[in-house]
Amino acid sequence: MKLSTSTFLLLLLLHHAAAATAPSPSAAATAASPALSPPSSSTSSTLDPKQVRALQSLYIPTTHDPCTQPSFHNATVCDTATPFRHLRSLRLTNCSDDLSLSTTALSSLSTLTSLTFLNCHVPIVHFPTSLSTNLRSFTSINSLQRLTGVFLSRFSNLTELEISGDNIKASGIHIITSNMNSLNTVTLSNTNLSGLIPKHWNPKLTHMDFSDNKLNGTIPTSLTLLEGLKFLNLSSNQLSGEIPTSFGNLISLQNLSLSSNSISGPIPGSISTISRLVHLDLGSNQLNGTIPRSISGMKGLKYLNLEKNNFHGVMPFNASFIKRLAVFKIGGNDNMCYNHSTISKKVKLGIAPCDKHGRPILPPPAADEPSSSVDDISSGDYDDGGDDGKKKNRDNGDHGPNKVVLGVAIGLSAVVFLIIFLVMLSKCGGRCCGCC
Ligand SMILES: *[C@@H]1O[C@H](CO)[C@@H](O)[C@H](O)[C@H]1NC(C)=O
Ligand SMILES: *[C@@H]1O[C@H](CO)[C@@H](O)[C@H](O)[C@H]1NC(C)=O
Ligand SMILES: *[C@@H]1O[C@H](CO)[C@@H](O)[C@H](O)[C@H]1NC(C)=O
Ligand SMILES: *[C@@H]1O[C@H](CO)[C@@H](O)[C@H](O)[C@H]1NC(C)=O
Ligand SMILES: *[C@@H]1O[C@H](CO)[C@@H](O)[C@H](O)[C@H]1NC(C)=O
Ligand SMILES: *[C@@H]1O[C@H](CO)[C@@H](O)[C@H](O)[C@H]1NC(C)=O
Ligand SMILES: *[C@@H]1O[C@H](CO)[C@@H](O)[C@H](O)[C@H]1NC(C)=O
Ligand SMILES: *[C@@H]1O[C@H](CO)[C@@H](O)[C@H](O)[C@H]1NC(C)=O
Ligand SMILES: *[C@@H]1O[C@H](CO)[C@@H](O)[C@H](O)[C@H]1NC(C)=O
Ligand SMILES: *[C@@H]1O[C@H](CO)[C@@H](O)[C@H](O)[C@H]1NC(C)=O
Repeated sequence: MKLSTSTFLLLLLLHHAAAATAPSPSAAATAASPALSPPSSSTSSTLDPKQVRALQSLYIPTTHDPCTQPSFHNATVCDTATPFRHLRSLRLTNCSDDLSLSTTALSSLSTLTSLTFLNCHVPIVHFPTSLSTNLRSFTSINSLQRLTGVFLSRFSNLTELEISGDNIKASGIHIITSNMNSLNTVTLSNTNLSGLIPKHWNPKLTHMDFSDNKLNGTIPTSLTLLEGLKFLNLSSNQLSGEIPTSFGNLISLQNLSLSSNSISGPIPGSISTISRLVHLDLGSNQLNGTIPRSISGMKGLKYLNLEKNNFHGVMPFNASFIKRLAVFKIGGNDNMCYNHSTISKKVKLGIAPCDKHGRPILPPPAADEPSSSVDDISSGDYDDGGDDGKKKNRDNGDHGPNKVVLGVAIGLSAVVFLIIFLVMLSKCGGRCCGCC
């Protein structure tokens, strides 16, 4: 019985192994196929022969009909036109090094509305106008080389634009997007873009990600008019100025990151009226003032990062609020403290407990202590900040007072010893006593 089951499993495994290796010969075959293309493949393919040749020049296998779903690596999607179908969507992934785009091939692909490059390192070529204006979705992730703002700006009918990990040469984002009036989703991340965030956007924009660039200036107040915006990521730029007080107008916002900029001033209280917000990251800025208590009323919040800012006062969150969050970071705010009668010292927050006036119980002055202990405290903060885990921040507050106690104890015993020694000395009065 046992034997037959294992034999069956073995057979099953062998079968799977055979099935898994099956597709590769077809992939290999396509490298050779361009030479012997149109007659044979057009009989088996419903795709326009011109487009079949274009696919072959891009090393996309056409031995099986590219219009039959799912296509090879889901690279192609076709329309239903007759007698020939046409490509609507094309995705080039993990391209070989000798691939090059040609304007001729792109001209015959002007029926595409969606074009994606993924790990496909090719230099751009001129895109024919018919293709540029037909595209609704354009994506390049770790792919196109020598991208420029002017090149991208010609895709005027896009609803989705995503460029990530590719250098874009442009004096600012406005060069790229100012004529894209239908844009719903825009990602320009890790592209070395500098300049300001443009003020004018399609009011229907839902997704904006400009993270990891060199953008400067302030967050335009006009962004808060985007009532449909669900996702906003401006992290890791050089933005300054304050968060607009009207931020609460972004009623659809779910994920917000403004982290790692130089944004200053207070958190606008209106942020806590954004009822769908689940992710709020304002870490590593220069925000100050007190943290609005109303944030603790945000029921949907799962991720809250306020670390490495200049907030002061008593932290307004209680233990049950913190427990509900998947990630909570508050360390690196040296003038902020927590009420130790409402939050156990066991919850490691990375800030000190408060004294009775609501100010942090300060670490001991540097002069009384070996300097290393002060260094420990500050470097501890920064190490914790880099940590992605939740609630892992060490508690300076716990270390500070313990070290005071230790220091005082050592000091006191030294004094006691000295007194005993002096008393002994004076009693013996210069004579050699006891020992000799
Ligand atoms: C192709 O797309 C289908 C449906 O979206 C998906 O189930 C399948 O995993 C995809 N295949 C590949 C190789 O990406
Ligand atoms: C591309 O390469 C990556 C990593 O080498 C691999 O995980 C992925 O499956 C590949 N995708 C395709 C469509 O070949
Ligand atoms: C695409 O953009 C061009 C201008 O760039 C415009 O004339 C045309 O109407 C647009 N087409 C669609 C379908 O939106
Ligand atoms: C951005 O510019 C720096 C320095 O010029 C360069 O090292 C880096 O590769 C560029 N980033 C991208 C995504 O090209
Ligand atoms: C924002 O972008 C950064 C860098 O690209 C990324 O690490 C972070 O997870 C993003 N934040 C959100 C809320 O998606
Ligand atoms: C933004 O940076 C550019 C240089 O890249 C500089 O000329 C400009 O003054 C800066 N603007 C602001 C508002 O900081
Ligand atoms: C939004 O934030 C939540 C909570 O941190 C996270 O699970 C989710 O992946 C984020 N969504 C996007 C699109 O980054
Ligand atoms: C916050 O910082 C700004 C300067 O960036 C300063 O003008 C303001 O007084 C500070 N507010 C508080 C409450 O410390
Ligand atoms: C904790 O704070 C929340 C929100 O402010 C509040 O609803 C709840 O009653 C508080 N819980 C305790 C135990 O104080
Ligand atoms: C800490 O909480 C207790 C009990 O809620 C309260 O009486 C006390 O005033 C608070 N201390 C500070 C500094 O806010």
